Amino acid sequence: MAEAMEVDDCQYNTAAARDTGKGKASAVPTSHGKSYDLPWVEKYRPTLIKDIVGNTEAVSRLQIISEEGNMPHFILSGPPGTGKTTSILCLAHALLGPQYKAAVLELNASDERGIDVVRNTIKMFAQKKATLPPGRHKLVILDEADSMTSGAQQALRRTMEIYSNTTRFALACNQSSKIIEPIQSRCAVVRYSRLSDQELLARVLEICRFEKVAYVDDGLEAIVFTADGDMRQALNNLQATVSGFGLVNSENVFRVCDQPHPLMVHKMVGLCLEAKLDEAWGCMRALCDMGFSAIDIITTLFRIVRNFTMHEFLKLEYIREVGFCHIRISDGVNSRLQLSGLLAKLCKITLKSKA
Ligand SMILES: Nc1ncnc2c1ncn2[C@@H]1O[C@H](COP(=O)(O)OP(=O)(O)O)[C@@H](O)[C@H]1O
Ligand SMILES: [Mg+2]
Repeated sequence: MAEAMEVDDCQYNTAAARDTGKGKASAVPTSHGKSYDLPWVEKYRPTLIKDIVGNTEAVSRLQIISEEGNMPHFILSGPPGTGKTTSILCLAHALLGPQYKAAVLELNASDERGIDVVRNTIKMFAQKKATLPPGRHKLVILDEADSMTSGAQQALRRTMEIYSNTTRFALACNQSSKIIEPIQSRCAVVRYSRLSDQELLARVLEICRFEKVAYVDDGLEAIVFTADGDMRQALNNLQATVSGFGLVNSENVFRVCDQPHPLMVHKMVGLCLEAKLDEAWGCMRALCDMGFSAIDIITTLFRIVRNFTMHEFLKLEYIREVGFCHIRISDGVNSRLQLSGLLAKLCKITLKSKA
């Protein structure tokens, strides 16, 4: 499985890439495999747009902008750990290169971004003179823009327009709906979605090779499963497993991530499909006794059912029941009775479909 992935044509600024003479200059130290290294999420943060994994269409648009300049205002929205911040930084470096320091104003949620900052800092930056090549503009990066108050966003509207011949804005956020409409309408909205399992796997595998990590295939599968499309989480879990246990196998990964083992949940769903309620409840009780909370179990259960090979009708019915149970648990009814009730319902659905 692992060998089939096409990872060789990607190229990252890592020690190994530089050894082969392919990588470009990077500030990352070369000593790899040592525990005092940078966190891997930072060490392997892509510095070129073409190295960003996944969301190919959106990334190729950014690539074209970086080559042609004249960047529009844009909003990059999507779930965490999919490369939004990385993409904007890559784009800024590609566009402005050596002038990055003078021509980019970067503000994220940890900086103050109230109305005053918009009125003063951002406005002053927009008025500042900078000598840039033709087709290039100063750039204001507002990372995690959905945490800006609507007052601050309102104050931004006019600034964006007045100075747009010299200054462009790039916003990143998790939910574009939290950006007020007038700003959305001034921007091109680019959406990122969760990365696919293959994309995660290819990247994780590559980093395993660079870091000379000892792994087995089911360990990498576990990393991908627990990450659920979030590259940051995949890399963090990988590094945590390596520094905690050395070997990356599924047991160690689930110990680090503290999630119910999917195999066990898988078995439980299988038993429900045979309407063996008592045995299914045995699995569930074991999970509860291990200390997993109802919400952990139901989340994993949902993802297992979603990917389970079973009759489509049954699957939809199962998902429906799991969904209802999830709602009740979220409302605070997280007793074992709920979970056993769920299993009974799943078994009932099976029996009904056979009748
Ligand atoms: N598409 C991606 N390709 C390669 N690495 C990624 C990607 N997305 C995230 N990463 C990794 O996860 C880390 C965090 O990514 P970041 O861009 O900060 O995510 P966010 O979308 O939450 O802003 C990066 O340092 C990088 O190592
Ligand atoms: Mg970010």
